[in-house]
Amino acid sequence: MIKFPHNFYWGTATAAFQIEGHPEEYLGKLSDWSEWIDREDKVLKPTNNGRAVEHYQHLIEDINLIKGLNNNAYRFSFNWARLHRAPGEFDENTARFYDSLLEELINTNTKNRIEPFATLVHFVLPNWLAKQGGWENPRTAHEFKNFTEYLVKRFGQKIKYWITFNEPNIFLGFGYESGIWPPGFQNDWNRYLKAYQGLVLGHQLAYKVIKENNPKAQVGVAQNLYCYEPYDQDLVTHPWQSLDSVPNILRKQLHNHAFIESCVDLEALDFLGVNYYTRFSYQLNPQAADAINPQAPSIFWGELLDRAEKKNSKSKFNSLGWELYPEGLYKALTDKALVRLIGNLPVFITENGYCKIEKESEDLEDPERIKFIRNHLVYLHKAISKGVNLKGYFYWSLLDNFEWALGMNPRFGLVHVNHSSFARTPKESYHYYSQVAKQNGII
Ligand code: FCB
Repeated sequence: MIKFPHNFYWGTATAAFQIEGHPEEYLGKLSDWSEWIDREDKVLKPTNNGRAVEHYQHLIEDINLIKGLNNNAYRFSFNWARLHRAPGEFDENTARFYDSLLEELINTNTKNRIEPFATLVHFVLPNWLAKQGGWENPRTAHEFKNFTEYLVKRFGQKIKYWITFNEPNIFLGFGYESGIWPPGFQNDWNRYLKAYQGLVLGHQLAYKVIKENNPKAQVGVAQNLYCYEPYDQDLVTHPWQSLDSVPNILRKQLHNHAFIESCVDLEALDFLGVNYYTRFSYQLNPQAADAINPQAPSIFWGELLDRAEKKNSKSKFNSLGWELYPEGLYKALTDKALVRLIGNLPVFITENGYCKIEKESEDLEDPERIKFIRNHLVYLHKAISKGVNLKGYFYWSLLDNFEWALGMNPRFGLVHVNHSSFARTPKESYHYYSQVAKQNGII
C-alpha cells in the first residue's frame, strides 16, 4: 500500500456553471457564458440549454454522493453572476443555496467534516461586468473585491480555503489568444495584458479583504500547469531541433509560472492549487510570422502564436486528444523554476481528471479512469518524497457535466449523469476513489 500523509485531503472539484443549471441565469442571460452557449459556432451540441446537470435541483443527492466517496474535502465555485446582480446588490435566494451546500458539508451529524474549498471565479463573469470590458476594465477588479467582501462576511465562518481564480492562464489563453471562449478575441496581446493586470489586481484586492475579515483564512489560486518539453529529443525532425527547448521554456514561463509569480511578488499567496491534465511539446518554427509585422519572420512571437506542438510518438490520449502523461504532473511540480518560486508553499491538486466522449451511453465501467487516477497518484506520492508540500487531491469531476465549448458529451465524472432524466449513477471509478480516500492510499 502506498500511503499518503496523515490529514491528506481527498476531494472532487466542480464549478457552478458546469453543474448548477439554474434557469434564471440562462434565461435571464445573467452571465457571459449564458450568452456564449447559444452561439452556433462557439459551443458544440448538445449544450442542454444552460441546464447543465441541474445540480441546483439535486443538491442533497449530490452531497450524499460526496459523502459516499469518503472524501474529507470538496471544491465548488460560487456563482458570481447569480449572487451579484448589480453594484451593491446581492441576491439572498442564491445565497441560501450556498448556505445549504455549506451546512451539508460541514454538518456535524456525520462524523467527518467535509472541508469546503471555495472558488470565487471559475471563468464566468456577470454580464453587467462583461459588457463593460470584463477584466480589461479595472472596475471589474474592484467589483470583484466587493463581491469577495460580501462572501467573506456572509460565509466566512464556514470557509477556511479560498481560491480567488480558477486557471487565469486558461481564461486568458482561450479568451484573448485562441478566442474560443468569451470575450472571444484572437491574438489580442494588448487586451490579454490588460485583462492579466485586471486579474492580478483582483487577486490582490480579494486576498487583502479576505485576510482582513478572517486572518486564519488561506487564500490561493488554482493554476493550470502543463508539462512542457521538446518533442522526442532523440529523434531529429527538423534542422533547428536543438533549439526546441526555447518555445517550451517560453510557454512554460507565460502559461505556468507568470501568474503565480505575480501573486508571490505581491505576497498574496498562501497555497497553490494545481490543475493538471496533459503535456505539450512545441517545436521551434523560425518561419512563423511576427504578430505585429507579418512581413517579418520572428522566432519569438512566431513561437508564441503558432501552435507548432507535436504529439510524442508513443503517447496515449483521452478522447479529446489530450495526451495521458502522469509523469508530467511530477515534472511540473518538481520543476526547478516553480520550486524557486513557491519554495515550501502548500500545494493542492485542485483538478486532475480523465475524459471520455460519450453521448447517452450508460457505460459505468471505466477502467481507463481508474488507471488514470492511480497512475497520477503514484507520481504524486513520488513528488511528496521529493519534498513537494502536497496537502490534497481533487478529482475533476464529481459528475459528468457541461464542458464549456465542447458541450455535454465529454464526460469526466466519477458519477454518470443522464442528459434527459438527470439520473445519477456512480461509475466503477467512483467506488475505486472512495476506497482510495478511505485507505488514504493506493494498492
Ligand atoms: C479545466 C477547467 C474545468 C474543466 C476541466 C476539464 O481547464 O478548470 O472547468 O473544464 O478543465
